[in-house]
Amino acid sequence: MAEKLVLAGPASEELGRSLAEKLGIPLLDAEFKVFPDGESRFTTSDKVAGKSVFVVQSTHPPVDQHIFQLLLAAHQLSEQGAKVTAVVPYLAYARQDKEFLPGEGVTLGFVAHLMRHAGVRRLVTVDIHSAEGLALFSFPVYSVSAIPSLVEYAKEKLDLKDPVVISPDFGGSKRTEAFAQLYGAKFLRLNKTRDKTTGEVSVWDANLDVEGKEVVIVDDIISTGGTVKAASEAVLKQGAKKSLAICVHGLFVGDALQKLEKASVSSIVCTNTVPGKFSKVDVSEALASHLRTLEE
Ligand code: R5P
Repeated sequence: MAEKLVLAGPASEELGRSLAEKLGIPLLDAEFKVFPDGESRFTTSDKVAGKSVFVVQSTHPPVDQHIFQLLLAAHQLSEQGAKVTAVVPYLAYARQDKEFLPGEGVTLGFVAHLMRHAGVRRLVTVDIHSAEGLALFSFPVYSVSAIPSLVEYAKEKLDLKDPVVISPDFGGSKRTEAFAQLYGAKFLRLNKTRDKTTGEVSVWDANLDVEGKEVVIVDDIISTGGTVKAASEAVLKQGAKKSLAICVHGLFVGDALQKLEKASVSSIVCTNTVPGKFSKVDVSEALASHLRTLEE
């Protein structure tokens, strides 16, 4: 059996360490450096030939830097003879999984191509934006669900009374419906449109049955906050008692938090696929359980 190692990348140091501990395998001794001009360097003196290395590196902002660090480490380790599994808790570019506007690149396909050429043999991520994205990879890729862990947290910590669980759009509705089913709550789906050029989000739904209810908005990503803001405003306008946001990947770009505050979102819960103030739910056990099942 090949010896295993975990490389905790700079974007996921804590999660990487926690995974190593849970799996009972040592951390690779390595250093990432970013030079003043923005160039990255990866150094390791460990001998990795014939070993299996889990490179744990999320790709939240600065997205391209984090992706490049992942590629750099994967390339060097694989050149030295390691079998590299990329563990990317938040997979950036997953929303660019098709040509939405004429002439637009399918960037997730390009990321998949770069990973393969860097020497990544397998990819494990958490709640990829859409299952369609999986087809763009020409090597094995697995998406682990954080939904059971989020439901467990909501049940234990949020003290909700007969909540209604809402998906802000059609795309994420399967994931949100799974949350509602596991929680044992009513599920509703909103209709959202996003202007593909400006990114402006609007939600239109006239008769939602949310009067006096606590509404939990469940989504995969909070980026600019526009989606959750629109959903929260819609349900509060229709008589909901309060709105809460639960998501897997909390990016909170720009003034996202101010937007959510303005839209009276009373509580925000995310996972630690992206480290931050709202990353209250740990996905390391869900990831570790999956990594244990992988063959050599
Ligand atoms: C879109 O389809 C996703 O599931 C999220 O709803 C979206 O990425 C959230 O982005 P933002 O916070 O910028 O509205």
